[in-house]
Amino acid sequence: QEQAAEYKARIKALLQQHNAVLVAHYYTDPEIQALAEATGGCVSDSLEMARFGKEHPADTLIVAGVRFMGETAKILSPEKTVLMPTLDATCSLDLGCPAKEFSEFCDAHPDRVVVVYANTSAAVKARADWVVTSSIALDVVDYLDSQGKKILWGPDKHLGAYVQKQTGADMLLWNGACIVHDEFKAKALLELKKQYPNAAVLVHPESPDSVVQLADAVGSTSQLIKASQTLPNDTFIVATDKGIFYKMQQQAPGKTFIEAPTGGNGATCRSCAHCPWMAMNGLQAIEEALVKREGHEIFVDDALRRKALLPLDRMLNFAK
Ligand code: 13P
Ligand code: SF4
Repeated sequence: QEQAAEYKARIKALLQQHNAVLVAHYYTDPEIQALAEATGGCVSDSLEMARFGKEHPADTLIVAGVRFMGETAKILSPEKTVLMPTLDATCSLDLGCPAKEFSEFCDAHPDRVVVVYANTSAAVKARADWVVTSSIALDVVDYLDSQGKKILWGPDKHLGAYVQKQTGADMLLWNGACIVHDEFKAKALLELKKQYPNAAVLVHPESPDSVVQLADAVGSTSQLIKASQTLPNDTFIVATDKGIFYKMQQQAPGKTFIEAPTGGNGATCRSCAHCPWMAMNGLQAIEEALVKREGHEIFVDDALRRKALLPLDRMLNFAK
């Protein structure tokens, strides 16, 4: 506790010294989210992280999240120094979508508009017509569908299937998944619902369809936090990374939040509702990033950056 307080004090001073701001995702540990709030930074979903970093006047952004979030920040703000607590914090969606293979998939379907989830490398974004986050995926695909476009979607097959079902758009899906959300189990969730008959079920659409079907609200992290405030229930079963409980408890005090089951029937899960890469964002790593810089800075090749900027800007302009 005492040690954590010392870290926080030193980080606050370093942020000021470097004219830096901390941008954190809702899945990072509560103390990181609290620190971002206490130092004038932001805690938000992938879309708002991108927008905040771009619009903030700081010289340095320290992005507590996973690699694609740091890369997105750098693509949108090349003039800023973008640091991450660790450059090893990746994402199974990013890992499961190598740029070369994805590009070949796109080449094989030239009649389709390429829409990629933000959880991808700069090189995959550079191959896309549109980037989306889960906050605006439905709206963008609905718009493209209304224009008569056929879509090639990557990499998350669950989010893709959800968007396809909701919009009725013609979508060809890449076969990727998030190792955290892929673990939620419908059968065990049904059992839990019986124990808490008055609970509302909140589900992130990176979860399998069988889990999404049991939801009272489906949406991005920010949309789920909103649902936890606006739905009248006093208990919620939450199928997304448990880092989100910090904000839900803060925004809806007095309500009860329960983790949706992973692994059912005693089976083991790989991630147990907390992303191992998000968990790499500790106080010590944040301090180290601000002190050392080397080994923590995000660089994106300039030619790639220019290409990736187009679909990212398209997203931000669409979401205005
Ligand atoms: P959102 O915060 O945009 O819903 O993204 C969820 C996620 O998995 C980020 O890694
Ligand atoms: Fe990727 Fe899933 Fe972790 Fe988000 S929670 S960073 S989608 S592995």
